[in-house]
Amino acid sequence: MSKSTSVAILGVFVADTAYRAERQPQMGETILGSSFVLGPGGKGSNQSVAAGRLGADITFITKLGFDDFADMAFKTWKEAGVKTAVTQTKDSYTGAAYIFIDDNTGDNAIIVCPGAASTISPADIDAVEHVIANAAVFITQLEQPLDAAIRALEIARANKVATILNPAPAAPLPDEVFGLCDYMTPNETETTDITGVPVETLDQARAASDVLLKKGVGTAIITLGEQGVLVHNKDMSEHVPAFNAGPVVETTGAGDAFNGAFATALAEGMNPIDAARFGCATAGISVTRPGTAPSMPSRDEVLALLAKS
Ligand code: RIB
Repeated sequence: MSKSTSVAILGVFVADTAYRAERQPQMGETILGSSFVLGPGGKGSNQSVAAGRLGADITFITKLGFDDFADMAFKTWKEAGVKTAVTQTKDSYTGAAYIFIDDNTGDNAIIVCPGAASTISPADIDAVEHVIANAAVFITQLEQPLDAAIRALEIARANKVATILNPAPAAPLPDEVFGLCDYMTPNETETTDITGVPVETLDQARAASDVLLKKGVGTAIITLGEQGVLVHNKDMSEHVPAFNAGPVVETTGAGDAFNGAFATALAEGMNPIDAARFGCATAGISVTRPGTAPSMPSRDEVLALLAKS
């Protein structure tokens, strides 16, 4: 039997409602914004769209309501070539996110309400065990319940599927989780939340990575925004620089671009350094465009950027 090259992703779809303004309002204050856009989002869905546009054989596992946002989700996945292991419930709504984007920097602040996806249970995961068990790489985040994420990681581990936890948004993690992660991909603030180590420099990222390794993570992949990524395990510690693909328009979803591309590259057999480079190039292009899922580049665009550098 030939080895699987497919990717399975568990996570959340939400409709992103993105507001651009000079600053965030204070409590009790109303300010005028400069623009509004409604589009597809949710970390797991964004990562799936990134993987799909890069040509991965990707299946996304989630739960939706029956509403207009669910229709948006199915349309988004169809256009990106994402296969689905999706259930729908009448008992809840398809989620949404409030995204504030700073007009000056493109930086963001987010509130996400996962709706139906916040009811994903370990039993829901057992029902799609075959999707995870037959993948080369499994990745999840922390927007759906943690017990569902743990069950999925356990299934992946039991079936020798490479596991990635993107611990976003940061949440307290039980000890058992770390040993289930071949790769953990926090950003600077998530790394600090999990390890207690402040992360601004590469040396600090290395110190925090050592904490993750001691807890049981195989390889720590710390995403450092414009500083790129640190790939750190017991045998190596390599800095992969970020790519400059043009002026930054919006950084929302850059982490998802990285994670979707990193998972795709690992599933294709790349080593973690090359996979991180592929991820950085994908993220580098995504930040030059507005939106989250809509900003994900095609494989040709990523290969062209990699060839130039
Ligand atoms: O990572 C960006 C995503 O986080 C947004 O699309 C938003 O929906 C939140 O889930």
